[in-house]
Amino acid sequence: MNKTAIITGGGRGIGWAITEKLAQDGYDTAVLGSSDPARYSKTIEQLEKYGIKYKYYKCDIGNRESRETTIRAVVRDFGGIHVLVNNAGVAPEKRMDLLEMTEESYDRVVSINAKGTLFFTQAVARQMCTQEIIGSKRGTIINISSCSAEVVSRSRGEYCISKAGISMITKLFAERLAGDGILVHEVRPGIISTDMTSAVKDKYDRLIREGCFPIARWGKPEDVANAVSALAGDGFLYTTGNYIDIDGGYHIKTL
Ligand SMILES: NC(=O)c1ccc[n+]([C@@H]2O[C@H](COP(=O)([O-])OP(=O)(O)OC[C@H]3O[C@@H](n4cnc5c(N)ncnc54)[C@H](OP(=O)(O)O)[C@@H]3O)[C@@H](O)[C@H]2O)c1
Repeated sequence: MNKTAIITGGGRGIGWAITEKLAQDGYDTAVLGSSDPARYSKTIEQLEKYGIKYKYYKCDIGNRESRETTIRAVVRDFGGIHVLVNNAGVAPEKRMDLLEMTEESYDRVVSINAKGTLFFTQAVARQMCTQEIIGSKRGTIINISSCSAEVVSRSRGEYCISKAGISMITKLFAERLAGDGILVHEVRPGIISTDMTSAVKDKYDRLIREGCFPIARWGKPEDVANAVSALAGDGFLYTTGNYIDIDGGYHIKTL
């Protein structure tokens, strides 16, 4: 029997690259997104070639009922959950200086990125704890945070706060679940070419030209997916609550 992976926000961008990579690795995949299924029907048909089971679920991770209904449906359809990739996330609709940031934008971004991730993880972890250990672990949870967990962007403070929250969510669940055989990791992407960054393409093109990133190119969704694939497998069994920067070396401080 294949292991099952859930990928939130798995229908496009970084999430789609993760979905495809995990399907390639042989996981059955439950692909979640906030959009109606019609939007992704053609996309997920591409998983057919990997010979695994797959299904798309509409799920708003910021909504309790939606989370619970979806997780029940995934367990019913697939029999269990072995890998959770918390990838879904939003940027502020409008970038605004910290002194202008609104409570509405803060509530939207934090309630999807941090609160949604927290309670989605809680519900999946409860499910994982009821399952058998397969091989060397019961489950793996991988959180896609951002370099913004660490780096200040004064025009999207609410996003930075939400991603710093995901780093703490990673450590909290890692410590809580280690004894249950569930490992929790965090992946911090830098600047990755997706819909999310399309609105600020010129700015990042310029920063790349100016040498801001030691590896001087845009990150690709596949760069993140390859890290997730490695962490989901059996190569990292004596570490939990860690993070890996997939950012072209952007995190290195220089003088
Ligand atoms: N792109 C970057 O440079 C970058 C850098 C660092 C971190 N990240 C993080 O990586 C993750 C993926 O980013 P991306 O660039 O691939 O973003 P994206 O292209 O904008 O895709 C975001 C995904 O999240 C889903 N989503 C948004 N709100 C949701 C909700 N309430 N419930 C469920 N799903 C929801 C979307 O679903 P629908 O498709 O249905 O709309 C979509 O699949 C995000 O957490 C982002 O913060 C991105």
